[in-house]
Amino acid sequence: MSNATRRVTILDLAAAKRDHRPLSMITAYDWPTAKLVDGAGVDCILVGDSVAMVVAGRDSTIPATLDQMIYHGEIVVRASAHALVVVDLPFPYQHLGVRSAVEACARILKETGCQGVKLEGTAGQADVIAGIAAAGIPVMGHVGLRPQAVHQLGGYRMQRDGERLMADARAAADAGAFAVVLECVPQEIAMTISAALEIPTFGIGAGPQCDGQVLVFHDLVGLSMERVPKFVRSYADTKTTIAEALGRWRRDVEAHDFPGPAETRG
Ligand code: KIV
Repeated sequence: MSNATRRVTILDLAAAKRDHRPLSMITAYDWPTAKLVDGAGVDCILVGDSVAMVVAGRDSTIPATLDQMIYHGEIVVRASAHALVVVDLPFPYQHLGVRSAVEACARILKETGCQGVKLEGTAGQADVIAGIAAAGIPVMGHVGLRPQAVHQLGGYRMQRDGERLMADARAAADAGAFAVVLECVPQEIAMTISAALEIPTFGIGAGPQCDGQVLVFHDLVGLSMERVPKFVRSYADTKTTIAEALGRWRRDVEAHDFPGPAETRG
């Protein structure tokens, strides 16, 4: 989808699926990355609870709080003008019943100004998705590897139960989700689900036949401090670039070479 002056809407995403136009979504959590991601013309920005891992250095997404998601979401919405911004519902609001989930999503929507929320869940959370959608809040599902359930799933591993994955994705779509993320799903299963659903699928580690792709910003630009999953393609080595710049500055300071005449006034 080309750069436009108005924001992408969920209707644009539905039209892209009908027209077989591939969709793009990248995470962002702060002002400069949101500006860069939005400027790249992607369809959606995800304020993912991956912020707990890639920004805060936690070993899972579970510690992310509602207040933290709202803090990052508000920044990203303000920094962007084109992309549809989706904010993750942090653990465990989708498991606390429809009322708690709607209250949490309403706070996210009101306090960030975002255009949608995403929640991880199985068919067991269909009533929650339906309640959020009924409240007029655009909601994106997330099935397959659900990082918030990493301990129950036994690690960050491929999910291979095709029938269950189809049932979870179908339940999200039938409950009113406008799109669904398929994470770590074999490509044949992701292809079958994408063909069966009327709503767009965003794949991450799910092969090329999804309607769209989503990646974590830090993985994509080579800024992740941990080893990146095999399904990631890094398009830059930002970590090395930054480390070299910092080292050069430190050496210049130690050599009395910074600040020089150009950086000194009076
Ligand atoms: O939190 C996140 O970044 C996500 C993506 C991996 C889809 O949910």
